Amino acid sequence: MFESDPASIMATTWPKDVGILAMEVYFPSQYVDQADLESFDGVSPGKYTEGLGQARMGFCSDREDINSLCLTAVQRLMERNRLAYDSVGRLEVGTETIIDKSKSVKTVLMQLFEACGNTDVEGVDTINACYGGTAALFNAVNWVESTYWDGRYALVVAGDIAVYATGSARPTGGAGAVAMLVGANAPLVFDRGLRGTHMKHVYDFYKPDMLSEYPVVNGKLSIECYLSALDRCYSVYRDKIQAQWKKESTDKHFSLEDFGFVVFHTPYCKLVQKSLARLMLNDFHSNPNPNTETGPFAGLEALRDVKLEETYFDRDVEKAFMKASTELFEHKTKPSLLVSNQNGNMYCPSVYGCLASVIAQHTLQQLSGQKIGVFSYGSGLAATFYSLTVTQDSTPSSGLDKLLASQSDLKVRLDSRRKVPPAVFAENMKLREEVHHLASYVPQSPVVDLFPGTWYLTQVDDQHRRIYTRHANDKDLRSP
Ligand code: ACO
Repeated sequence: MFESDPASIMATTWPKDVGILAMEVYFPSQYVDQADLESFDGVSPGKYTEGLGQARMGFCSDREDINSLCLTAVQRLMERNRLAYDSVGRLEVGTETIIDKSKSVKTVLMQLFEACGNTDVEGVDTINACYGGTAALFNAVNWVESTYWDGRYALVVAGDIAVYATGSARPTGGAGAVAMLVGANAPLVFDRGLRGTHMKHVYDFYKPDMLSEYPVVNGKLSIECYLSALDRCYSVYRDKIQAQWKKESTDKHFSLEDFGFVVFHTPYCKLVQKSLARLMLNDFHSNPNPNTETGPFAGLEALRDVKLEETYFDRDVEKAFMKASTELFEHKTKPSLLVSNQNGNMYCPSVYGCLASVIAQHTLQQLSGQKIGVFSYGSGLAATFYSLTVTQDSTPSSGLDKLLASQSDLKVRLDSRRKVPPAVFAENMKLREEVHHLASYVPQSPVVDLFPGTWYLTQVDDQHRRIYTRHANDKDLRSP
């Protein structure tokens, strides 16, 4: 299927072009409209739609949990790409949706491997708020680049159900899973040596109550942590890329212009627009001699001496750089917000939903050769800025056309979801609260509402063991 003949790749010890070969985005089949939610919650019109930049929020009934979301995403990826389960040697899960303190989601996914008898599959779950998916992806890439790699694919699935208690955070929920196939000779290649990481102990968002799905969240602190982590990660990334360029005798100053696209973990879309503006502020600061007469920094001279750490909520700085970065945002980041705007914050898969949105909305020519900046943030906190380079090779053997084709139905699938009134959404949240961790329990919500091919929960028995089945009327994803 993909160009990864183990014998030829393993002839060299350093596999070429390690990266993402294929992606599968799964989101629930139902959503609540954010304008409807504004009036239901009694907030001022525009608060969620304009103020947060959110149009719709996907949510799960009691039929879906983290295991079923990941089962669905993985099986769809395998089917769409006609992959055999014995071609996978590593399977990693990134999630913060914990339903068992010991048994990993990964072990539940091993049910999919049973028929082919492949149990030689490394990897378990990785947890840290919205960063687990990225940590899992790095584990997969590191495995492919290690001496333990046996030539098979690595598979990563990032999944979460993002739900908040009633109040200001509730409209920033969402749910979904993104599965990614990792290997050599990939169309989306990880840039070697280019990861800028920032980790710190902070209580901005955490889940200390094991009996509740809801986090404890300090919204304002979480925004400050997100923006400060962005500054720090981008600065480390910049130092690393400048050092690489120096070694190559390239006398060039790195800036946002070096990316074709920049994608971010997206708690809500407005924060991402502010984040791109923030990267421009970082560029302005790191540029030894910015032109403030003409060009992108024109008229910004007065902001030359502001201290980054004093500007997280500085309206003047924010406004000036939002304005200056408007065009950059339109081209480099806005297209990445399709899934986030329509489905909300999926937590771990959020940034990978953004990556898929970029792929879904550009042509092979527009993507080929572009560098994509990726910012992943998980509260607590763990964050990395890294980059991918899209292959220059637009022939079928590169796999880029296949990757594009696989994302081409993203918008159609989002539009095919069922809209439900906010009252039904609120009842659903109440039901989830009541049945979370119940045993024995048989879910109540109708199965018919699920997308074809969705795995769902049929029962939790009196020993908390969960049983799943796949929705009938399964559309054959192998058909065009
Ligand atoms: N029309 C247009 N805009 C409006 C309106 C309106 N009627 N009403 C308010 N707004 C604007 C506000 O001015 C504000 O804009 P600003 O961000 O530019 O200041 C924005 O809408 C949000 O309004 P706030 O009053 O600031 O919202 P609130 O404090 O009630 O909640 C928050 C926002 C903190 C993000 C909350 O939703 C939350 O806690 N979410 C979860 C935490 C989160 O997502 N953190 C981000 C990183 S961590 C993570 O990923 C989980």
